[in-house]
Amino acid sequence: MDKKLLALVLASFLFFLFFNTPDSHAASNDYIRHPPRQLVATPHQGSKSDPQQVHVSLAGKDHMRISWVTDDKNVESKVEYGKQPEKYNAVATGENTEYEYFFYTSGTIHHVKIGPLEPATTYYYRCGGQGQEFSFKTPPATFPIEFAVVGDLGQTEWTVSTLAHVGSEDYDVFLLPGDLSYADFQQPRWDSFGRLVEPYASRRPWMVTEGNHEVEMIPIIYPHGFKAYNARWKMPFEESGSTSNLYYSFDVAGIHILMLGSYAEFDHDSAQYRWLVEDLAKVDRKKTPWVVALLHAPWYNTNSAHHGEGESMRKAMEEVLYKARVDVVFAGHVHAYERFTRIYDKKADPCGPVYITIGDGGNREGLAMKFKEPGSPLSLYREPSFGHARLRMLDETRAHWSWHRNNDTDAYVADEVWLESLSTNAACWDTTTPTKDEL
Ligand SMILES: [Fe+2]
Repeated sequence: MDKKLLALVLASFLFFLFFNTPDSHAASNDYIRHPPRQLVATPHQGSKSDPQQVHVSLAGKDHMRISWVTDDKNVESKVEYGKQPEKYNAVATGENTEYEYFFYTSGTIHHVKIGPLEPATTYYYRCGGQGQEFSFKTPPATFPIEFAVVGDLGQTEWTVSTLAHVGSEDYDVFLLPGDLSYADFQQPRWDSFGRLVEPYASRRPWMVTEGNHEVEMIPIIYPHGFKAYNARWKMPFEESGSTSNLYYSFDVAGIHILMLGSYAEFDHDSAQYRWLVEDLAKVDRKKTPWVVALLHAPWYNTNSAHHGEGESMRKAMEEVLYKARVDVVFAGHVHAYERFTRIYDKKADPCGPVYITIGDGGNREGLAMKFKEPGSPLSLYREPSFGHARLRMLDETRAHWSWHRNNDTDAYVADEVWLESLSTNAACWDTTTPTKDEL
């Protein structure tokens, strides 16, 4: 590397070390954070060829993607699986990748798609032909189905507490609206995060979208960002007609779920916007009576933290979601819990989505303690505590939402509400129902 380039690399690196603190995206830094807890260490216990950081995700109809990392580069990207322990009657091979980030080189990152799989069935599997056996359960084909929803997870003692509460009761699919590892340029933290979540993410599909902590962009050197995130957390974007891992959709049971990208372009002439319009035009509410969206920076937020950061995306995309009668929009980013009523264009609207911020998973930055006063009549419940949430969809019409605050020993239900799908609300499907051309 010539000297000028080397100097540029070092200057960029120092710039980001000193000036790109994790909260540099915050519009307002004048709020007080609740004391965070320490990072937890999660070393790899096995050999170089043993699988680590195993996680599974939904990958198109009746298929799952198994992802894992090995330090040994010669391990085959192969998954053996079957419905009985240690009896593998099927095998699939896939792809692998690795990436470099300054002086760090990742292990080999494997992705193998398996299936077709039966719904609501436990499968046992082994990665790379060796190491321990894992198992997961596929989601049900129909209602009821239960989601665990957690944003801004991190890898602290709070994360451990949140995940323990999530794991204490069964669920079908894990949804994460951005900010996973809080590696913040320190790549080995992506590995420790993968190991920390493996006991959960290897058992149930984890469906994630990106937050600001996934960007890890450095001008000139890594101008596009998302190097670690895209390599490690491959989501079913190709399966859903998207050209970017930063936004995609999937169906599970009777729900169509949009995973939107707050950190991809979203204006009307963007690829994400065009994909969203086409994706929503294909939704059949008879097959998927519920439509749910996840994104990172909230469009509605009465906390002082990150206030207004989601506004440009809201202006670009809110009308599309509203006309499609999206039922619920989940966001993270703000390290607190807040539930709004149904809203469209900053006003209560019975045909708009319910907006919920659930950025309280357990990150190292602590809580966003300061809510704006007076509150908004649109905001029905708000609290800065760590926790997780559950969305239990009973049938085509009814769903139960509950937010579980992390108390010392148990997950205490601090907020709960019944939701009704807009698909069966006739008043919301009159002449305002859009045609494909109108969207
Ligand atoms: Fe964030």
